[in-house]
Amino acid sequence: MIYMDNAATSWPKPPSVIQAMTDYMKNIGANSGRSGHRLAIEAGRIVYETREAVAELFNISDPLRIVFCSNATEALNLAMRGFLKVGDGVITSSIEHNSVMRPLRALEEEGVEVTVVNCSSEGFLEPTDVQTAVKPNTKLIVLNHASNVVGSILPVAEVGKIARENDLVLLVDAAQTAGAYPIDVKAMNIDLLAFTGHKAMYGPQGTGGLYIREGIGLKPLKWGGTGSRSEEERQPDFLPDKYESGTMNIVGLAGLGAGVRFVLSEGIDKIRENEKNLTQKLLDGLLNIEGVTVYGGLDVARQVGLVSFNIESVLPSEVGFQLDEEYEILCRVGLHCAPAAHKTIGTFPIGTVRLSLSHFTTEKEIEETIEAITKIALTSKL
Ligand SMILES: Cc1ncc(COP(=O)(O)O)c(C=O)c1O
Repeated sequence: MIYMDNAATSWPKPPSVIQAMTDYMKNIGANSGRSGHRLAIEAGRIVYETREAVAELFNISDPLRIVFCSNATEALNLAMRGFLKVGDGVITSSIEHNSVMRPLRALEEEGVEVTVVNCSSEGFLEPTDVQTAVKPNTKLIVLNHASNVVGSILPVAEVGKIARENDLVLLVDAAQTAGAYPIDVKAMNIDLLAFTGHKAMYGPQGTGGLYIREGIGLKPLKWGGTGSRSEEERQPDFLPDKYESGTMNIVGLAGLGAGVRFVLSEGIDKIRENEKNLTQKLLDGLLNIEGVTVYGGLDVARQVGLVSFNIESVLPSEVGFQLDEEYEILCRVGLHCAPAAHKTIGTFPIGTVRLSLSHFTTEKEIEETIEAITKIALTSKL
């Protein structure tokens, strides 16, 4: 079996992730930040060490400014709902995931003004178009760091500069880059960074989070028990407790910590280089097949490890079915939760076939995948 669906969720996970989760379940199991006994302290240590590892990955000085959430979607909702008020303006791009678009459309119905800046048909964004879209009421810019449909990398650092110059807040959806591409919140002027733990950070499902720069106040998404200031009926005003009500996913965070430590020990530059080489091989192979259209910029320097394509006159769902049934190659087909992105690249409503890599993908797997797609393309012509 060849797993080519890492942009949805990565698999396999490093053995250290499974080990960390098993260790917690077998030997610790207690709640963090609640009771004061030794197991609770151990659980709190695990959560804090995960915070520290994530802080190191994104060059965040204070690990307590990282709020853990159940996924990137929750982190994005917290950022957008917590920050925007009626009458505020927000700028986003035309290749966002529905985890950005749907909360924004809901906020639009409540009186927030949403401006969508068009990307090119390859999925790229011109920073000057963002500058042009700034209005007197604009408060926030929301961008995905890389598209989950074509893999195009957006100019986050350049837009960060524009945000700073215009006194705007920049929220980055790093679901497709966190762990796979270098992110430095300071150098890139990122004010809010939403990440997911279960993709290139190699943690389990149910993990993710939001970095909140000092000086940015958000309304919480939920209120409740935090284990701190128990004497108060009001929510604590300090981070991360203000946004982390309820028992945390400690087993998940144990795994996420191990996943991030795996990324740090491999080295983000090495991971990126490996994925670039694999992506190049995949692009070269696909571009050589007659009847195959590959979307995006076709330039690995500006693309993460995922490739979208279609075979002439074959529906993506049919290609995905054949890859799974006949070749045991697992991928994702359709709209990938990002209809706006498909309208931008011209593949709406049919969508694309998406192959997505991880650090564990091998060259042999890429070769076998190209071979299988070549056969499907050939038989479709008969
Ligand atoms: C660009 C992008 N944003 C947000 C998400 C949502 O991530 P999660 O499923 O962790 O909420 C995804 C997941 O596919 C994504 O690709």
